[in-house]
Amino acid sequence: MISRLILTLNCCSLTVKPLVLSGCSDDALWVPMHITKPEHCTMKAPSVAIRRKRGAVGRASRGLARERRPPRSPLLRAVACTLLLVVSLSCHRSKSVEGWWKTTRKLHDGTERPVLFEFKQSGHRLSGTVRFDWGDLPIQNGIVENERLSFSVGSGFEFSGSKTFNSIELTFHDERAPDQALLLSAAGDEALQLPHYRPPLPSLRAIHAPPAIANTPPMGWNSWNHFHKNISDAIIRGVADAIASNGMKEAGYVYIVIDDGWQGERDAQGRLHSNRQFPDMRALADYVHSKGLKLGIYSSPGPQTCGRFEGSYLHEQQDAETFAAWGVDFLKYDWCSASRVYRPSESRAVFQKMGYALQAARRPVLFSLCQYGIEDVWLWGADVGASTWRTTADIQPSFRSMHQNALNQQIAAPLAGPGHWNDPDMLEVGNGNMTDTDSQSNFNLWVMLAAPLIAGNDVRNMTESTRNTLLNKDLIAIDQDPLGKQAIRTRVFGKIEVWQRPLANGDQAILILNTSEEHQFFRSAWKDLGLPQPKVIVDVRSMKEAGTAAWIQMELQPHESRIFRVS
Ligand code: GAL
Repeated sequence: MISRLILTLNCCSLTVKPLVLSGCSDDALWVPMHITKPEHCTMKAPSVAIRRKRGAVGRASRGLARERRPPRSPLLRAVACTLLLVVSLSCHRSKSVEGWWKTTRKLHDGTERPVLFEFKQSGHRLSGTVRFDWGDLPIQNGIVENERLSFSVGSGFEFSGSKTFNSIELTFHDERAPDQALLLSAAGDEALQLPHYRPPLPSLRAIHAPPAIANTPPMGWNSWNHFHKNISDAIIRGVADAIASNGMKEAGYVYIVIDDGWQGERDAQGRLHSNRQFPDMRALADYVHSKGLKLGIYSSPGPQTCGRFEGSYLHEQQDAETFAAWGVDFLKYDWCSASRVYRPSESRAVFQKMGYALQAARRPVLFSLCQYGIEDVWLWGADVGASTWRTTADIQPSFRSMHQNALNQQIAAPLAGPGHWNDPDMLEVGNGNMTDTDSQSNFNLWVMLAAPLIAGNDVRNMTESTRNTLLNKDLIAIDQDPLGKQAIRTRVFGKIEVWQRPLANGDQAILILNTSEEHQFFRSAWKDLGLPQPKVIVDVRSMKEAGTAAWIQMELQPHESRIFRVS
C-alpha cells in the first residue's frame, strides 16, 4: 500500500512545498517536488529520483522541478527515499502542531490508556479533538504561540506545554488528580485506526433474571420522549406525584425512568455523580419509593451515551453498585457509543457484562436493553439477564413511526413471553402531533404486542383523552395477559390490517386498524379472518357486545383502530 504523506515543511533553512512523498515500496509513485532554498540554508537538497505520475499530480507538477530518471535498482530507490526522509526530518523544525499526535496517560489505578490528539492550527488558533479511550472531546480555548500551546477539553481538563524538535511536551491538569506530564509523538494515518482500550469481554453464559421481575410487560413512565435532556429532580418528583395520584399507579404504571441527561462527572475514584439538575439521587429514589413507585435510570456500555453524557464503559461494576446504592430499580442500557469500541457481534458479551454487574450488586434491577434490534437481540436478550429489549429504531410522535415500529417487531414475536419482552419503544400517546386517534392506535398496538407500557408524555398535565387512553383497564389487561403471547398481523385488506393475539383464558384479541388517511368501511366474515364462529364479541374500548356470529363490520376514521375480545 502506498502511504502518502503530504507535508508543508517550514524548515529553519529549507522550505519544501507542497511535497507529496510516497512510501518506499516498489510500486511507489514518485512525483516532482518543489524545493525552495532560502539563502541562509546550508543543507543541500538531496538529489531525488523521480518517476512521472500520470494524471492530476503529474499535470500539476509540470513546470516545477526537472524530471529525473528513477534509480535503476529498488535498493537505490530505497536509499534515495530514506535519505530524503532523514534530510527532511533533520531539517524540519515546524512551528505548526497541525496533525495527529499520540501518547498514553496513567490512570489512578496505574493502568496506561492511549490518548490521541488531532490538532488543527490556523494562525494562533488551535482547534481539533482529543480522543480518549472512552470518547472524543473537542478542543476549547486552544492557542499556539511561539511553539507554546494551551487548550482545555471537557470540564476541568487543561493542557499546556510546548513543541520541541519532533514531539510535544504537555502538562495534563485534571482538577481531580495530580498533574501529569505527557510526551506526544507524531501519529500517522494509522492513528485513526488505533483501537480504543478494550478490556477482555466475558465468555458467554446465560445469566437469566428472575422471571418474577417482569412476569408481565413492565409499565411506567420515561422522560425521553417528552423532555429529552431537559430533565431535573423537580420534574421527576412532579411526575411521581402525578402518577401516584392520577390513577396511573393503580393501573400498574410503577417505574419512573430517568432517561439520558442526569449524568455528571466521575470523581478521582471513578465514581459517577449526577449533574447539578439532580443534587441527590438517593433522596430522589427515596421520594419515588415513598410514593409506592420505583426508580429507573439510564446508561450506556459505551464511553458516552447518545446524548454525549458519561457512559458506563470500563465502570460497569462500579456503576451497578452506585445505582444499587441509590436505590435504582430499573436500568435502561443504550448501545450508543459502544460501537466505537466493540463490534456489533460482541454486543451479547457487552450487555452480559452489565447484566452480571447488576446481579452482583445484589439489588433486583429490571435490565432493559436498548440497541435498536441489532444482532437479533430477541434471540439472546434474556440470556444476558435482560427483561426487555428494544427491537427497533427510535419512535417519533407520528402515526407512521409508531406503526412502522409495530410492524418491525413482528419478526421477534415468538421470543416474547413471561419474564422477557420485545420493546417497540416508549409510547408517544399524548405527544407531539399525535391526534387522539393516533394515540389510541399507538396504545392499542402496544397492547396487542405485549409491549412494555412506558408512557412518554408529560403526565403532570394531560388531556382527558390522553388520560383515558393510558388508563383503559380492559386494554391494559390484554397487554398484561399472563399467557404473554405477542400479536402478529394475520390479514391485510388494502389499508386495513388485522392483528391477532391469543389470551390466557382461550379468548382471542383482534385488532382492526385503518392505516390510511381516509375513512374506511370494513366488513368480513369471521371465517375469512381464520377464526371459528365466535359466541361473544366485545369491543374492548366500549365494553359493549359487537358484531354477529357470522360477520364483523365497522367504519373506521383515518388511523383508527378497534380491539375486540372474541370467545
Ligand atoms: C436513544 C434511545 C432513546 C433515548 C436516547 C437518549 O438511543 O433510543 O430512547 O434513550 O438515546 O439519548
